[in-house]
Amino acid sequence: MNQVIERQAIATDLMLQASGLNVYYGESHILRDVDLSVPSGQMVCLIGRNGVGKTTLLKTIMGLLKPRTGKILLEEIPITNLSTDRRVKLGIGYVPQGREIIPRVTVKENLLLGLEALPGGRKGNEEIPEEIFELFPVLKTMLSRMGGDLSGGQQQQLAIARALMGKPRLLVLDEPTEGIQPSIILEIEAAVKRIIAATGISVLLVEQHLHFARQADKYYAMQRGGIVASGSTRDLSQEVIQKFLAV
Ligand SMILES: Nc1ncnc2c1ncn2[C@@H]1O[C@H](COP(=O)(O)OP(=O)(O)O)[C@@H](O)[C@H]1O
Ligand SMILES: [Mg+2]
Repeated sequence: MNQVIERQAIATDLMLQASGLNVYYGESHILRDVDLSVPSGQMVCLIGRNGVGKTTLLKTIMGLLKPRTGKILLEEIPITNLSTDRRVKLGIGYVPQGREIIPRVTVKENLLLGLEALPGGRKGNEEIPEEIFELFPVLKTMLSRMGGDLSGGQQQQLAIARALMGKPRLLVLDEPTEGIQPSIILEIEAAVKRIIAATGISVLLVEQHLHFARQADKYYAMQRGGIVASGSTRDLSQEVIQKFLAV
């Protein structure tokens, strides 16, 4: 039976709050006392050079890695010990680094698989809402193509669209523009901004491109597994940019 998990609407100004996270791969200490929060309705960008632990932090938030210490709250609900599936059903949409769309099924089926994230699961006769195609028009013309036949940029748009099918409250994006050509980067950036404006969703973004990172309200900079700087992106200094972003 499909367990329906209630999405409680709790008035809080923080969508996500992670505190005191320490995460290890075997004996290697990767995340060190990480505190990070995402205010409701805002976009937060996590920056830092390769290998500093950004993906590890997102995987921990998604429950793919278990922290040795620390806790994670989603709108004040403790999720630290919940499975990834429960977290997704509580409203976290995740687009992992490298996209991970399913190459051997159609674009339409890839999108419909996103419905599994809804609290009641997938019903079987759903259609894809028009809003998805308003955000990513290219997908409408490619519904019957195999996911694997799409370009990198199109696959990334498909991966984000699939996450949106589950109507998340928090969208977690791990380097959505990695390896993608500049014109498509701007399209993805514009789509994310439109998603925020249209739905009030909160976004946690790992991003190396300065222009996209600057669209966030707030940033955190990571070095060797710890948060070493944070603040409003308006105050993102040239020094921080040069130290933490690949520009
Ligand atoms: N599966 C793994 N097993 C062991 N070490 C890993 C694994 N994945 C990543 N690491 C190490 O953890 C550190 C952080 O990696 P990661 O979170 O992927 O960094 P980022 O996303 O910032 O590039 C790196 O030193 C990396 O080599
Ligand atoms: Mg990474």
